[in-house]
Amino acid sequence: MAKLFSPYHIKNVTLKNRVVMSPMCMYSSSNEDGMLTPFHLTHYTSRALGQVGLIITEATAVQPEGRISLQDLGIWSNNHIEGFKQLNNQIHSYGSKSGIQLAHAGRKARLNSTSIYAPSPIPFNDKSKQPTEMTKDDIIKTIKAFKEAARRAREAQFDIIEIHAAHGYLINEFLSPLTNKRSDQYGGEREGRFLFLKEVIEAVKLEWTGPLFVRISTNEYDKSGNTFEDILYFTQQLKSLGVDLIDCSSGGVIETSINTYPGYQLNRCERIKNDTDINTGAVGLITSGLQAEEILQNDRANLVFIGRALLRNPYWAKAAAEELREEIEIPKQYKRGWK
Ligand code: FNR
Repeated sequence: MAKLFSPYHIKNVTLKNRVVMSPMCMYSSSNEDGMLTPFHLTHYTSRALGQVGLIITEATAVQPEGRISLQDLGIWSNNHIEGFKQLNNQIHSYGSKSGIQLAHAGRKARLNSTSIYAPSPIPFNDKSKQPTEMTKDDIIKTIKAFKEAARRAREAQFDIIEIHAAHGYLINEFLSPLTNKRSDQYGGEREGRFLFLKEVIEAVKLEWTGPLFVRISTNEYDKSGNTFEDILYFTQQLKSLGVDLIDCSSGGVIETSINTYPGYQLNRCERIKNDTDINTGAVGLITSGLQAEEILQNDRANLVFIGRALLRNPYWAKAAAEELREEIEIPKQYKRGWK
């Protein structure tokens, strides 16, 4: 059997296969209230019909000021629980599992109407707003917001939580020396820069006992950014905090062009898997079943995250199975008309 279509067990959750829908912002919440719309239900449920093993929702803001745009999804209030519960019912009824990516945009929030926050008051670029340097109180409030979001995710019956610590958003801004110039305990050496993420994880774990993933930027593409040694230090710490899987992405901390090619983030994903002895998810221009199978068979990652290819084709998993000469389920309602 192709490894891509073998089940994957993590804590109390079994994914029917190793195909993961990578979190992707759809900017489709309509009333600036962070609520799901019919679009979200259709969009994610189609990928469940398409036999994706795990569907991770787009970056979902734990505080209103943590949105990238006013159209982002949110989970900052109890009013958000019901919509996600409905979504999860749908996803589960087609045999897929669901994850939520908990996020805070930090200085990359493009919000005109409110103050935006970051570890240090350095704008992302010359077009972006000046962020307010977070006080200890702001830090405590934000950590509590992640904890409350984890409780709501549990109540909404998500199977997995992924913390967004990549792409230059708030948590990544604490981790990176390019964006964290603080002189208190949350800045300085890598131990200090890691403290915010550590406290977020500890707070989330008070509400969440299920599988916990963390997405990080394994490469900042800047010689003054985190080195790969720093990254390995972070992943070792994440392992000792009980994180179950590192989702290995890259970039986004500063504006720079990235040379992308099939599997461009894989090298570091594989090294993290081996050096830290932790499960990893591979992502980035993985577009075919054969490519995904190679990654899994060579133990370069445990799960394969598919982004744009799944936007183009909700039945990507079915196409990948055909490439690998594997039979997989199709929605029972479609069976008579499939061939
Ligand atoms: C993304 N990506 C992304 N990543 C993330 O961690 N949270 C998010 O909300 C988003 N949003 C998003 C929106 C859109 C439209 C795209 C195309 C991408 C990054 C995405 O998850 C993935 O890591 C990259 O797209 C690389 O994988 P692919 O697309 O090459 O398979």
